Amino acid sequence: MGKLLCTKDLCKYYEKSKNVVKAVDCVSIELDEGETLGLVGESGCGKSTTGRTILRLIEPTSGSVTFDGKDVTTFNKNELLEYRRNAQIIFQDCYASLSPRFKAGNLITEALEIHGIGDNKNDRWAIAKKVFEDVSLTEDHMNKYPHEFSGGQRQRIGIARAICLNPKMIICDEPVSALDVSVQAQIINLMQKIQRDLGIAYIFISHDLSVVKHISDRIAVMYLGRIVEMAPKKEFYDNPVHPYSKALLSAIPIPDPTIKREKIIIPTELNATQYGDGCRFCQRCWKAKEICKEATPELQEVSPGHTVACHFM
Ligand SMILES: Nc1ncnc2c1ncn2[C@@H]1O[C@H](COP(=O)(O)OP(=O)(O)OP(=O)(O)O)[C@@H](O)[C@H]1O
Ligand SMILES: [Mg+2]
Repeated sequence: MGKLLCTKDLCKYYEKSKNVVKAVDCVSIELDEGETLGLVGESGCGKSTTGRTILRLIEPTSGSVTFDGKDVTTFNKNELLEYRRNAQIIFQDCYASLSPRFKAGNLITEALEIHGIGDNKNDRWAIAKKVFEDVSLTEDHMNKYPHEFSGGQRQRIGIARAICLNPKMIICDEPVSALDVSVQAQIINLMQKIQRDLGIAYIFISHDLSVVKHISDRIAVMYLGRIVEMAPKKEFYDNPVHPYSKALLSAIPIPDPTIKREKIIIPTELNATQYGDGCRFCQRCWKAKEICKEATPELQEVSPGHTVACHFM
């Protein structure tokens, strides 16, 4: 399978009272067609900014985004419209943020109309009905309003909205974080089924490594704007190398009572304004030495497809 998405040294910096917040700092990721990359890290590490910059909902400060071999950062209006059709986003609760008077079905027909799909209203309603079926909702649901749905149903509508244009990629920004655990599993299963049927690639954003474990092919861990570790899923969960990844993984509750895992405590709080030289994690890292304060570690391959940015590995 070919590369669908490629970012190279993607950066998004914000000015904040004399400081520069490097929300996204030199992020280089690749995504194959039909693949799922789990993008994980604590609140404020830059996951959403990465996703939105890829989609050009936010303009990058520097770096490049290539989609299907084309440079997204140079797209004109028409090219951007086509890109928006191919590259969709799902939020925590996109439907709830809309007008309470917006019928669920019209969320789909409106998107179809913007992109010139379907000859008339009836046509588009029929297409929408099919998409609703794909997410296990009925025509009855199409005539309902946001407040009439549960959180899980609203997320199904969000998924329907994202897939109705036949995209090649969906950026899923914490799509299940607001849902109960049992509903989370249903939605993730649905997303996997849709991926199998339609061959869509996902960037699946979460702060929770146990959420992305099931659905991801590869995992990327982000810390204060930078990717610190990236690996195929099995390799990552079996053999995490970066101290931050280890710490995150040690916080996963393990259901089997015969397995005990020592929880690693990360010493200090996330400090989003610490942006000097050196490893961003060094203040919290139990392995840190002098060099960690002086030089930013670059990603290096430790085994095929497994890269880590740490001076001590
Ligand atoms: N428009 C903005 N102006 C200034 N700073 C911003 C802006 N948007 C984001 N940031 C900062 O960039 C950093 C990354 O934010 P981002 O929302 O991408 O993180 P996140 O990983 O998605 O967090 P969460 O898990 O809470 O959703 C944060 O420090 C945030 O305060
Ligand atoms: Mg976010």
